[in-house]
Amino acid sequence: MRVISIANQKGGCGKTTTAINLASTLALNGRRVLLIDLDPQAHATLALNVDSQNSIYNVISNLSPRKMNIDDIIIRVENSFDIVPSNILVGTLEQELADEIGRELKLNEIFSKIKDRYDYILIDCPPSLGILTVNAMRASSEVIIPAETSRFSLQGVERLMDIVNLIRDRLNHEISCKVLVTMFDSRLRHSFSMLAKMKEQFTGKLFSTIIHVNVKLKESVVEGQTVTGYDRYSRGFKDYFSLAKEIIHTEQKTAAEFTPLSGRMRDLVKAGSRKMATTTIHLDAPNAQNVYVAGSFNNWSLEDAYKLKKENGLWAIDMPLRPGTYSYRFVIDGKWQEDPANPIKEKNPFGEINSLLEVK
Ligand SMILES: Nc1ncnc2c1ncn2[C@@H]1O[C@H](COP(=O)(O)OP(=O)(O)OP(=O)(O)O)[C@@H](O)[C@H]1O
Ligand SMILES: [Mg+2]
Repeated sequence: MRVISIANQKGGCGKTTTAINLASTLALNGRRVLLIDLDPQAHATLALNVDSQNSIYNVISNLSPRKMNIDDIIIRVENSFDIVPSNILVGTLEQELADEIGRELKLNEIFSKIKDRYDYILIDCPPSLGILTVNAMRASSEVIIPAETSRFSLQGVERLMDIVNLIRDRLNHEISCKVLVTMFDSRLRHSFSMLAKMKEQFTGKLFSTIIHVNVKLKESVVEGQTVTGYDRYSRGFKDYFSLAKEIIHTEQKTAAEFTPLSGRMRDLVKAGSRKMATTTIHLDAPNAQNVYVAGSFNNWSLEDAYKLKKENGLWAIDMPLRPGTYSYRFVIDGKWQEDPANPIKEKNPFGEINSLLEVK
């Protein structure tokens, strides 16, 4: 299970938009996802039209007259996507926890009870650096920092990274953080010069996926939906789908991790899984009749074994591949084209674009 906080003390930088739409696109990729709304403003809860009297407050607080287990307050949003809602009472936890021993560990303790049931827990943090955000970080192994391309944004990201370092030193907890560029406006030259600065400043710590400004992301909130439910043809959906894929690419599941095997058997499984890893490729092409993937892994040939199947409205294929980097293209109803959801690509000798896939 991966626990990922979505945090930035700067308000309005796209934390909640990222939390709900990444949760939804990870779920669309077959992952079991739980979103924790940890913001007293309860924007994620409201944006998804979740109606609940209870919140994470009832689980964490010792003063709550209605003390509950996390299981009692989990609500299903979409297939494989659940939420733990928030409400205004969550704000009182900042004070209530201030004098408690082990106050940074509250969320971490709660997650230990549900860790087998989800592949991802995402936490939508409030725009502050108080005890709630520290709890989220302490329970996470990764932090996504959404940031717009503005000068103040850069300063905010640096401060948050200082906090991450502090948590590593004081609480002895390692967290990897990555910056996600949000609300990118490709009509402005300013956006590109800020992006260049960010690439320089956060080398190796920037997602390849960029989230562009897209009005569908705003509209979907008004309709109480994720962009997946609202408009799968929108740029907003494509960007968040691409982010989900980028995150999924860094999963390193091996059979040995999940199956308690002993001795020689475990060594054999480990050796085998190092040779081949199952890699899933998706394509959103609702009107296509047939789709193949061809690439350096199969000598660019159209074979039945590389024909994609339609699942939940999306085309998909699982391929056993050895570690390495592969180039590939889709053949959609006979037409060759790059993977529109994969930002990692290169020009081929014919002047066309090949998509690139790294198998670890
Ligand atoms: N890529 C985008 N394109 C267009 N509008 C966006 C985009 N991302 C976010 N927004 C809009 O910007 C506003 C702020 O976004 P959001 O609520 O996700 O930020 P936040 O960081 O969670 O804010 P807060 O700090 O208050 O929790 C919202 O109205 C949202 O719909
Ligand atoms: Mg928010």
